[in-house]
Amino acid sequence: MGILICPVCGQKLTVSGKAYTCTARHSFDIAKSGYVNLLLSKHTGKTVHGDNRFMVQARRNFLEKGYYSPLRDALCEKVHNGVILDAGCGEGYYTAGISEVLNNSEIYGIDISKTAVEFAAKRCKNITFAAASVFHIPVADSSCNSLVTIFSPYCGKEFRRVLRKGGTMFMAIPSEMHLWELKKAVYDTPYKNEVKPYELEGFGLAGKNRITYKFQLDSRQDIQSLFSMTPYYYRTGKVQQERLKALDSLEVTADFELLIYRRTL
Ligand SMILES: C[S@@+](CC[C@H](N)C(=O)[O-])C[C@H]1O[C@@H](n2cnc3c(N)ncnc32)[C@H](O)[C@@H]1O
Ligand SMILES: [Zn+2]
Repeated sequence: MGILICPVCGQKLTVSGKAYTCTARHSFDIAKSGYVNLLLSKHTGKTVHGDNRFMVQARRNFLEKGYYSPLRDALCEKVHNGVILDAGCGEGYYTAGISEVLNNSEIYGIDISKTAVEFAAKRCKNITFAAASVFHIPVADSSCNSLVTIFSPYCGKEFRRVLRKGGTMFMAIPSEMHLWELKKAVYDTPYKNEVKPYELEGFGLAGKNRITYKFQLDSRQDIQSLFSMTPYYYRTGKVQQERLKALDSLEVTADFELLIYRRTL
């Protein structure tokens, strides 16, 4: 059992004491929180990648309040037992949800943010978390029955490589009206989200489920947590950020699409 491979030489990794090692003696320490760092510096570049501590904490605070639980529930209804990889798992909200409903599975989560997998590993001891990039996934070819990608970067080549033929990919994307009122509160002329064509090379669309509802944010802190989880946070000027800070409550539309693909090639 175990699907992790060495990021240096590609051989199988096994746990030995407090590290993962391969037969070529490359060794990767397991952190106190339980995750293993399989990121090689050549795969990350010079700058820090992925969500930082502030963003991870904001996401944890927000998700823990259940605002996105309809998406988690929809996903958990569809997943089935097997070897499952959550690629770009963040702080593990959806990965943990999956592990609660499946009792006979081997579940993995990877994220390029060490802070994110640290949070995830502390929460969930029966899932293997690794710091790794979706563009260099340290798991064996055709080793996964299912792959989960929730608002995270997409790498078709790697996703096809790690999924077995006929395997399932669960993908969540924001649909047209997602967070419309938040954008309206910040921007003078907000735009609807662009929904890209569903076709993906090597995958056939097997199902889609639109999940749309409104939720009420009743504190400045929750409004800020949601805002700092979004890409708008870093693209928005001071004046617009101040507009949001002046609000005590906000009703927001959640508009997701949960897409289900089968690996065909
Ligand atoms: C919008 S968050 C979604 C996290 C999680 N799936 C969720 O919905 O709560 C995007 C995540 O992708 C991660 N990420 C960004 N680039 C990545 C890469 N190249 N490989 C793996 N993860 C990446 C970020 O660190 C962040 O945790
Ligand atoms: Zn090795």
